[in-house]
Amino acid sequence: MPSVPRASTSSGGDPGRLDELPTPALVVDKGALDRNLATMAGVWPGRRLRPHVKAHKTSGLARRQAELGHTGFTCATIREVEVMAAAGLGEDLLLANEVLDMRRLGAVVEAGARVTVAVDSDAVLQAAVAGGVREVLIDVNVGLPRCGCDPQDAGRLADAARAAGLEVRGVMGYEGHLMLVADPVERAEKTAGAMALLQKAHADVGGDILSGGGTGTWRTNAVVTELQAGSYALMDTAYAAQDDVPFEQSLTVLATVISVNASQGYAVADAGLKAFGMDHGNPTLPGHAVWYCSDEHTIFSPKDGAPLPALGDRVRFVPAHIDPTCALHERMWMVEGDDVVDCWPVDMRGW
Ligand SMILES: Cc1ncc(COP(=O)(O)O)c(C=O)c1O
Repeated sequence: MPSVPRASTSSGGDPGRLDELPTPALVVDKGALDRNLATMAGVWPGRRLRPHVKAHKTSGLARRQAELGHTGFTCATIREVEVMAAAGLGEDLLLANEVLDMRRLGAVVEAGARVTVAVDSDAVLQAAVAGGVREVLIDVNVGLPRCGCDPQDAGRLADAARAAGLEVRGVMGYEGHLMLVADPVERAEKTAGAMALLQKAHADVGGDILSGGGTGTWRTNAVVTELQAGSYALMDTAYAAQDDVPFEQSLTVLATVISVNASQGYAVADAGLKAFGMDHGNPTLPGHAVWYCSDEHTIFSPKDGAPLPALGDRVRFVPAHIDPTCALHERMWMVEGDDVVDCWPVDMRGW
């Protein structure tokens, strides 16, 4: 595993304070992160939560989740499974995604980790057999137009998997299309409808596990035996706008003001499209209007007649979507106030 070098100050020492970090930098407010982790663990304790690591791609953060008792994890890529296992966090890894070449996963199983994969077709279950993966969940389409078999086909697929020598642990159904339904009552009703499909499939499949759900349905999914939430730790802007999703946006991107245009009333920071996942829109900066982002720049202006920042000032943008934002950075810095208290490599990036 290639190690990610720690960034350092120009004098060569490890940065101890926020204003010494090289920018752009991913910065996590440790207090807010700890509160998010504790709130989730209070409602979905221990193995009832199977945190999704795709959101942060950081084994250091996953280790904190494991320390709270969440020792089973959800992954989206083979690379995430490999890094989690290599980090000693391979007690029970679910690859909640279809893969057609499972040889690398077979090697992880061989090395002693427990790996279960989602299967939604005969071809994928044959790939599990061929690759040396022994445990599967039947992935059921519960309304999101993505992976997942027709609920009617789940029982047949489970029989085929067992006939091929695989252990079928249960079902998975991700209701991603419902995460951002604004009205919690409507979201609960629609989630119940999606989960009725999963329960029906489970009756045909058997096994102990009904896996699904996410940050948006953490309060409205009453069916799954394990919730696959990931974003709750660092949090997206769209989730933060929901009344029944109390988690704090603990992730920011620290940037430096590198140019100020006083006559036109704007400032330029050194973090742009290559530092923010942009699919949910621009990052925000409290008290300011963000004009636009280009490759290496974000242009912004103060609101309500407040003064422009000065050259060299540090600003902390709140990214709208954490998953693609984390995937753009090599490391995240943990801070308490202005003190940098830890640095975690974002070590599950790549494929
Ligand atoms: C299969 C699966 N499960 C769970 C999640 C959890 O998502 P979040 O907690 O970020 O809403 C995702 C996110 O995309 C997903 O793809």
